Amino acid sequence: MFYKNKKQNDIINLELLKSYEIGYTFSNKPIKRIEIKPEVESKTELLKNLSYKISKIENCELKSSASKLVFSDGDPTSPLMIVGEGPGQKEDEIGKPFVGEAGLLLNKMFKAINIGREKIYITNVVNYRPPNNRKPEPSEITKYAFFLREHISIIDPKILILMGSTAMESLFGTKIKISKERGIWKELIVNNKTYLTMITFHPAYLLRQPDQKKYSWADLKETRRKINELNLKI
Ligand code: URA
Repeated sequence: MFYKNKKQNDIINLELLKSYEIGYTFSNKPIKRIEIKPEVESKTELLKNLSYKISKIENCELKSSASKLVFSDGDPTSPLMIVGEGPGQKEDEIGKPFVGEAGLLLNKMFKAINIGREKIYITNVVNYRPPNNRKPEPSEITKYAFFLREHISIIDPKILILMGSTAMESLFGTKIKISKERGIWKELIVNNKTYLTMITFHPAYLLRQPDQKKYSWADLKETRRKINELNLKI
């Protein structure tokens, strides 16, 4: 093609460069002229996108009755990711998981194995408070499992702790019993990657059944042992 003048030619070249999705910088000095857009989005951006996707969920009773989305808390770079069931009243007010009574126990449990709450990453199976704190319905668990799996994939933890039967069912199905499965290292495959996973009792259950704390303590000690064995920095 023949261009009548240079200015028109430059505009066309700029359009061409834009279509390649690369930035081109004009300068007289010797500089790095072409910057390729990074292929991998940062974890923060991926988490922001996931949270936005969840906020757009439709036809969800949980979302329509809750006051806000409760996405996560803690360190997204942590090797340890905790999954609970769903927000309660306090979590719904504050917008963070495990900030009520069960959360206080969770903090104590991890402190007992020398891990501060701020060092772990915490989320839930469902991200909106179920009405009257009811257990999420199987259809809700399935709906949110899609987001939870993406969440695990983004955080990419070295150890995943599932607290309670809802977290267990969301990722391993309904055919198993928590009393039989807790305290054992299991493998969970998400997005072609295998995650070392421990199922243990939910802190709210331990508040109702304090005699079960001895099992929970055994699971925590085993978690600490594994952290040491894998030499995880936490
Ligand atoms: N119970 C949960 O499972 N998650 C919370 O965030 C609070 C209580």
